[in-house]
Amino acid sequence: MGAIMIQWYPGHMAKAKKDITAILPLIDIVFELVDARIPKSSQNPLIDEIIQKKPRLVLMNKRNMADPIQTKKWEKHFKELGFGVLAVDAISGYNINKITSIAKVQLKDKILRDEKKGMKVQRLRAIILGIPNVGKSTLINRLVKRRLTAVGNRPGVTKAQQWIRISPAIELLDTPGILWPKFADEVVANNLAISGAIKSEILPIITIGEYFLDFLRKHYPTLFFQRYQVDINLENKELAKEIVLKHGILQSDYYERAFQIIINDFQSMRLGNITLDQI
Ligand code: G4P
Repeated sequence: MGAIMIQWYPGHMAKAKKDITAILPLIDIVFELVDARIPKSSQNPLIDEIIQKKPRLVLMNKRNMADPIQTKKWEKHFKELGFGVLAVDAISGYNINKITSIAKVQLKDKILRDEKKGMKVQRLRAIILGIPNVGKSTLINRLVKRRLTAVGNRPGVTKAQQWIRISPAIELLDTPGILWPKFADEVVANNLAISGAIKSEILPIITIGEYFLDFLRKHYPTLFFQRYQVDINLENKELAKEIVLKHGILQSDYYERAFQIIINDFQSMRLGNITLDQI
């Protein structure tokens, strides 16, 4: 594992945790954004500890890229944990219009309590939390229907925040809370690299590629064959040669090259709908 990642992780995470813990008392519901292709690997390992009993709506973004059968199973899993859950696609806008109604279902206890006290609920406040690249900025832009300046991948929550009304009852903090994934776990690191959530220099391309190939052998051999017409059960180097030959000339770096091709094809969906975290 990349030692650098392990070293900087605790510092960043401590700051993110502090920032988010400070703002949490103002929040009624957390929208936890994950990548539907890696619902587990794109979760922050401390999320439960950070948000505790705060109502949570898990938004499985990039739903259009994931394996629909797996997405259904993950939805069931998150529901069983007591969270609201919705598979969305921030780019096409799929299910985005359901976010506020599902949030209100998650908040029905608070709404009822307030009503009993004779209070009319003025507004419910939400924050989006998630690791880098799950689509937080894209989703906020969609929800507020205007372009925001890029927030960058700074940990925690930045200072100049604004609440934006995304429905008559719900206001969203315009800056997402940025958390960090669990790089120290090898499966998680591989999944983050394959999905493009982290730059692949974190692990050698061969490590990532061999992991991905084994994964495809186990879970998606047909999709692999449909794409390359190459037998996935060939020995790795033979398989790599065949794939590279189909794309041009065989050179000495063909092994790395084959993995770059396969991973690029996955990221651009030329391999089809694949979920890396199988449940
Ligand atoms: P972040 O704020 O959580 O860091 O993520 P951001 O919105 O910047 O999105 C990261 C990448 O994911 C962007 O690609 C964005 O277009 C893409 N993305 C976000 N939501 C969806 C979705 O629902 N479906 C699909 N298919 N893609 C989505 P990008 O600009 O191309 O970034 P990059 O590839 O150049 O890093």
